[in-house]
Amino acid sequence: MENFDYYNPTRIVFGKDRLDELDTLVPEETRLMILYGGGSVKKFGTLDRVRQALKGRQIHEFGGIEPNPRFSTLMKAVDLVRREGVDFLLAVGGGSVMDGTKFVALAAGFCGKETDLLSGRFKPVPVKTALPVGTVVTLPATGSEMNNRAVISHGDAKIPIFSPLAFPRFSILDPTLTYTLPPAQVANGIIDTFIHTVEQYVTYPSEARFQDRTAEGILKTLVEIGSRTLDHPEDYDARANLIWCATNALNGLIGAGAPQDWTTHTIGHELTAMFGMDHGKTLAVLQPAVWTVRREQKKEKLLQYAARVWHITQGESSERIDLAIEKTRTFFESLGVSTRLSDYGMTKEKIDDVVAALEKHGMTQLSETRDLTPEISRRILETAL
Ligand code: NZQ
Ligand code: ZN
Repeated sequence: MENFDYYNPTRIVFGKDRLDELDTLVPEETRLMILYGGGSVKKFGTLDRVRQALKGRQIHEFGGIEPNPRFSTLMKAVDLVRREGVDFLLAVGGGSVMDGTKFVALAAGFCGKETDLLSGRFKPVPVKTALPVGTVVTLPATGSEMNNRAVISHGDAKIPIFSPLAFPRFSILDPTLTYTLPPAQVANGIIDTFIHTVEQYVTYPSEARFQDRTAEGILKTLVEIGSRTLDHPEDYDARANLIWCATNALNGLIGAGAPQDWTTHTIGHELTAMFGMDHGKTLAVLQPAVWTVRREQKKEKLLQYAARVWHITQGESSERIDLAIEKTRTFFESLGVSTRLSDYGMTKEKIDDVVAALEKHGMTQLSETRDLTPEISRRILETAL
């Protein structure tokens, strides 16, 4: 196991009817701003419930944070925060709203050029202070509710950023708030959680046994509840398990001290930026292809994944790996998500553009061993067609 620091200060408030406790979670005497997305929280009554829980306080609102939140939209919120002297931010929505709110929190007190906050790549954003953030989660997927990351769209790129100051102070996880999700978003959330888990697990053996067993627990839970979650949108326990898996897949726990491979996410961000594909769908398409191309480098962990998650223990090792990849693909397809790039209108000719974008954004040494070149990314994209 590698050395690690594990720090996670986010308070989780989990369960039904917990929204009423908002008033006790947001400090008194704050100038509060609620941030939300394109309107689902208005349509389904969540925003009204939040306003009711915070009745009597001075509240500003900022709506219209789009999926894959854009820098230009978020800067409008930053202006409002500065103008009104807002000092606490409450995100009500999915990953895009939570990520966008984190960016606003980091940018609000920053004196330099705000685009500099997007240029750090693998370094924390250069801020010394950030506004406190709370979240009310309406879509289980990204883990943003309990991590220090955000992904911001700017120009032709989706840019991951992080800061130790970006952890939410608290997150309310009420599974009933997810009942209104369209099936496609539930499927995206299951797949995003699955891929967060395997990108920190299917690498090379590192004697991170607790992390491995926890990752396997998340994957097996997702397989157990996947179709139940979709077929019975108001099955409380299925939603509760999904949301807790999503949070734990990317809150630092399973990745601590273990090698990590973010290839699927990195190439996936380019597909979203160029073709507008949903984040979850890019992952469903790319992960089987990544494993096909990298089966030698990942052999031991793929065999462990095959045995412990899918109970594949018979046959030659290459057959077991093939079967595990096939089972994974079938699982994603069973959620109604196509796993071939061609199903989304991608053609061989467009692959050059994706590889060029990876090079432009400096994504030329991917994977847990940093030896995944643009040429190998090209092979992955061709395999995914
Ligand atoms: O915008 P509204 O109207 O609210 O509608 C949203 C949006 O259209 C809708 N929705 C959310 N909750 C709903 C609902 N509709 C009905 N009922 C509800 N309860 O769902 C749509 C998608 O929302 P979005 O927030 O974009 O989805 P998701 O949570 O999948 O977030 C995706 C974003 O998170 C980033 C992705 O790159 C992408 O930008 N990620 C963030 C990560 C992080 N912070 O750690 C890691 C992830 O790997 C990911 O990259
Ligand atoms: Zn993701």
